[in-house]
Amino acid sequence: MLCAQFLGLLTVTGLVRALVLPVGSQLTDTEKGRRKVVHVLEDESGAVIVQTAPGKVVTHRGGSITLPCRYHHEPENTDPARIRIKWTKVTDSLQFEDVFVALGHQQRVFGSYRGRVELEEAGPGDASVIIHNITLQDYGRYECEVTNDMEDDTGFVNLDLEGVVFPYHPRVGRYKLNYHQAQDVCREQDAILASHGQLHKAWLDGLDWCNAGWLEDGSVQYPISHPRDQCGRKNTPAGVRNYGYRHKEDERYDAFCFTSNLNGRVYFLKRFKKVNYSEAVKACQRDGSTVAKVGQLYAAWKIQLLDRCEAGWLEDGSIRYPIVNPRARCGGPEPGVRNLGFPDKKFRLYGVYCFRKNKDSTGVQVQPTLQPKKTINSVTANVTRNN
Ligand SMILES: *[C@@H]1O[C@H](CO)[C@@H](O)[C@H](O)[C@H]1NC(C)=O
Ligand SMILES: *[C@@H]1O[C@H](CO)[C@@H](O)[C@H](O)[C@H]1NC(C)=O
Ligand SMILES: *[C@@H]1O[C@H](CO)[C@@H](O)[C@H](O)[C@H]1NC(C)=O
Repeated sequence: MLCAQFLGLLTVTGLVRALVLPVGSQLTDTEKGRRKVVHVLEDESGAVIVQTAPGKVVTHRGGSITLPCRYHHEPENTDPARIRIKWTKVTDSLQFEDVFVALGHQQRVFGSYRGRVELEEAGPGDASVIIHNITLQDYGRYECEVTNDMEDDTGFVNLDLEGVVFPYHPRVGRYKLNYHQAQDVCREQDAILASHGQLHKAWLDGLDWCNAGWLEDGSVQYPISHPRDQCGRKNTPAGVRNYGYRHKEDERYDAFCFTSNLNGRVYFLKRFKKVNYSEAVKACQRDGSTVAKVGQLYAAWKIQLLDRCEAGWLEDGSIRYPIVNPRARCGGPEPGVRNLGFPDKKFRLYGVYCFRKNKDSTGVQVQPTLQPKKTINSVTANVTRNN
């Protein structure tokens, strides 16, 4: 299939008869961003052929990643100064955002990529770029385009992020957010609206959530692994249910947010007394931290395997706690971040989760690649849907 895809690409270039021989085709190699070796034979003059690793490369927030792309051109002695390498991000079906351009020795990096993108330059024909200090916004599909005097060709690479998807609604309640407000609440919780791909992967890992939420593409969806009558009828199959693209200003739902590795650590503050909300804020400050955001607690649970059977305040005024190893009296048989909702801020019934930023200024945190058990992404909370 990979060959068929690539040959499909070649027929577009028209001029070329080629034979493609992928070598060492384990997906694990390409997933980690190593490029495939490709031999292109019987080329004819004037053509440029671009090869990107099929599939995707995977990293996390704060990491560095190579977007692999190689090209081959004829005649071999084309002046390298006339080869243009251009990387763009495919933001919408037809929209592109400039990332990087190189023409000979001249290079230019655009927008939020400035200071973070460089050519790999690992020998002739290498058009790969390295992106440093990966952000949540970098997730997505990238196009590598190589042009010489006569021809151009393109290839695509998907940049995927390790992380966690979580459903969110603010204190005002369920189904109160239009699309733009959903974007804002995710940002406020140290996250970004999730993509369909991210929600689908979370569903495969067991996420089951009975409230519909906005996704980054403007659609409204929700993941169901255990069909039941309260969640759109028991006899409909399990899956990610999709309400389609909704009106971004007028319609109101919850949000599905996505976040990735933290540049810091979330912890339950040890204290003798329970605190109200303002005491919780002060207690974290005195400890050199801030009250943790919801996204930070989810990232700590999923990536740092934070497990604590004590309910604590978070920055948005909700009360939650993270459970990796389910046990009696810790809220149900599934791992998940438990949610006790938004109690009155004056209640002195809970502790507090704080977030302490790492000291280094790079924003890069190297995490052990410890992966929790497969079921770990299932999220449970004490929320019911009432329609
Ligand atoms: C959910 O909340 C109800 C009361 O609102 C409580 O009786 C029940 O034990 C809670 N379940 C969990 C799993 O916390
Ligand atoms: C929390 O308790 C303090 C006293 O320690 C009080 O001054 C403050 O008003 C309380 N905050 C809330 C939100 O009730
Ligand atoms: C990485 O990104 C973070 C957040 O945008 C920023 O604070 C930090 O300075 C960046 N570090 C580098 C090395 O660019």
